[in-house]
Order: sequence, then C-alpha cells, then structure tokens
Amino acid sequence: MLNVKDMIKDVLVSEEQIKKRIKEIALDIERDFPDGDVIFIGVLKGSVIFVSDLMRAMNVNVTMDFMAVSSYGMSSESSGIVRILKDLDFDIENRDVVIVEDIIDTGNTLKYLYEYLRARNPRNLKICCLLDKPERRKADIKADYVGFSIPDEFVVGYGLDYAEIGRHLPYVGVLKEEVYKKV
Ligand code: XMP
Ligand code: MG
Repeated sequence: MLNVKDMIKDVLVSEEQIKKRIKEIALDIERDFPDGDVIFIGVLKGSVIFVSDLMRAMNVNVTMDFMAVSSYGMSSESSGIVRILKDLDFDIENRDVVIVEDIIDTGNTLKYLYEYLRARNPRNLKICCLLDKPERRKADIKADYVGFSIPDEFVVGYGLDYAEIGRHLPYVGVLKEEVYKKV
C-alpha cells in the first residue's frame, strides 16, 4: 500500500509555521473577545486538529461544539446546498461564536453554515479558517481569521484528507496529481 508521505509533492505549510500562526490567531480572537466565554464550533472532521490546537493556545475561556455537514450533489465542487448531519449540542443565542473550518474553497459550505447559525441569534458570529483558496471563491463570504492563503491545489494534512488519508500529518502538503487524477 502507498505510504501517505509518498503521496505528497511538497510541504506547503510546515508544522512550525502552523504553530506560530495559531498563536497569532489566538491573540487576535482574544483581542476581539477579551472576556472570553467564546464557543468554537468545529466543522467535522477536517477542523478537529486545528480547533484542538487553537483552543490550547487561548488564554481566556472557550468551549467547543461540533457540526457535521455534507454537501449535496455529485460534482467535485460543493453545491451550497448543505445537509446537516450533526447539529449543535448548545444554544448559541446571545453568545460569542467562532466557526472553525479547515479550508474555504468555493465558500459555499461556509456561506450556508453562516446563515444557518446567524438565524439562531448569536451575539457575534465569526469565521476562522486555517486555509483559504481565494482564487476558487464563488460565494460571498470572508473569514475573519485566516491562517494561510494558498494557491488552488489539493492539499492534505493537519486534519485535511484525501479519501480519509493524510489527516494525521503535522503539516499541510500538496497531493501529487497522479494520486487523485488516477482513472
Ligand atoms: P467549499 O467549496 O464549500 O468547500 O468552500 C469546503 C470544503 O471542501 C473541502 N476541500 C478540501 N479538502 N483538501 C481537502 O482535503 C483541499 O484542498 C480541499 N479543498 C476543499 C473541505 O472539506 C472543505 O471543508
Ligand atoms: Mg471540511
């Protein structure tokens, strides 16, 4: 079986770069919510590693919750019509909420999720994503906190996967084209 490390063309964001950036993002969030009591909503499964590292970089109280969503449609691009597979455990009315995502690609998924959560009347609703592919954007949505802007290449690692492979890698790497262009 192919080892995941043989599937990576380049390391795009190193473990050290991620660690450093997470500390900076945590400070930005603390500056916006100095009293803490923020709810991080991780979007399963890609954001699990990011949300757990980000939480541990925070010096104010944060709690976490998770949502699981899947995008309708057969194409490789998300449609913006999203099915909620797991909803929140907590009420977010009048709370300060940060949606934590692995990557914004077209933005369709986050746009839907943002509107869905906005309807529950949180006091503040922010978006934090580790990676952003601005070239691919279709939906009108912008993250408040962005780890790294990256080119339009398929990446895995640090929570992101290709067919569930690669989530455990401590860095973000570009997948070799032959892995996903295989017919
Ligand atoms: P949209 O297009 O709605 O989709 O912004 C966001 C979701 O698409 C997945 N995605 C990726 N997953 N490597 C991945 O492992 C990538 O390069 C990539 N680009 C998009 C991801 O699930 C994200 O939440
Ligand atoms: Mg995702």
